[in-house]
Amino acid sequence: MNNLAKKRAELPKTTIIDNRKLSTSHQRLAEILQEGMAVLDVGCGTGAITRGIAETVGEKGKVIGIDNNEDMIRKANEKHSLPNLSFEVADIYALPFDSEFDIVTSARVLQWLENPTRALSSMKNTVKLNGKVLVLDYNHKKIIWKPKIPKEMEAFYSSFLKWREDAGMVNTIADHLAYLFEKIGLDNIAIYPQHELVQKGEKTFESQINIWSEVAEIKGKQMVEDGYLTEEERVIAEKKYRSWTQNKGEYLSMYLLAVEGVRRN
Ligand SMILES: C[S@@+](CC[C@H](N)C(=O)[O-])C[C@H]1O[C@@H](n2cnc3c(N)ncnc32)[C@H](O)[C@@H]1O
Repeated sequence: MNNLAKKRAELPKTTIIDNRKLSTSHQRLAEILQEGMAVLDVGCGTGAITRGIAETVGEKGKVIGIDNNEDMIRKANEKHSLPNLSFEVADIYALPFDSEFDIVTSARVLQWLENPTRALSSMKNTVKLNGKVLVLDYNHKKIIWKPKIPKEMEAFYSSFLKWREDAGMVNTIADHLAYLFEKIGLDNIAIYPQHELVQKGEKTFESQINIWSEVAEIKGKQMVEDGYLTEEERVIAEKKYRSWTQNKGEYLSMYLLAVEGVRRN
């Protein structure tokens, strides 16, 4: 893995991913899980969704969450203890499993990689014949905020996309997944829009709209270190965006697709 993408993918703070749930944050997976299944969750972070998977497949099932970040796996192990659930440090490009799962999934991970095709091939090898590969990911170029965000935050967002692109990450990965699934020989490919939409007045409005305050804070600091903006520009973008979320923000749509395919060979 190229070190730039690896470094830029790191998440020092994990509030957003800690609060995810299988039912709302990985809906297509929640629909296809059955009791007794063996499931691999690649890039599981601190394991919030992985725990939901283990609860759903029950004690006859088996769930493994892997992440290449040791800290994430340590937190996952501290937070989630179930007899059918385990967490391991491993890299998506070198998964230590062969044809043993009914489903391999990865949510919001391929967006951080510079070689998603290689990652998908590696995932494909972990499922049994007729098993499923299911990937959930974003097209960051199709985000919609209403009304428009402050110009300082718009500038931050453009730099964010550039910072990612320069590390080899594909900002539009969601819309390439079906093609990549075909390229690696998966069958029965299906696409499910799972856009993350939130309107003012809804219970999760504040937490969802503030994902971008966290990005400006956490990723913003990495971007400053990498010379993509100054600390002053970062601070003002974060401040103006936080104020926009409290006073003006009405709506956010993050474009997210779940794409699945079946392994036949
Ligand atoms: C945005 S988080 C998503 C976590 C969780 N799947 C979710 O949807 O909430 C992306 C995760 O992918 C992991 N990751 C990034 N590159 C990876 C790689 N090469 N191998 C394994 N995990 C990786 C990161 O450490 C991080 O935990």
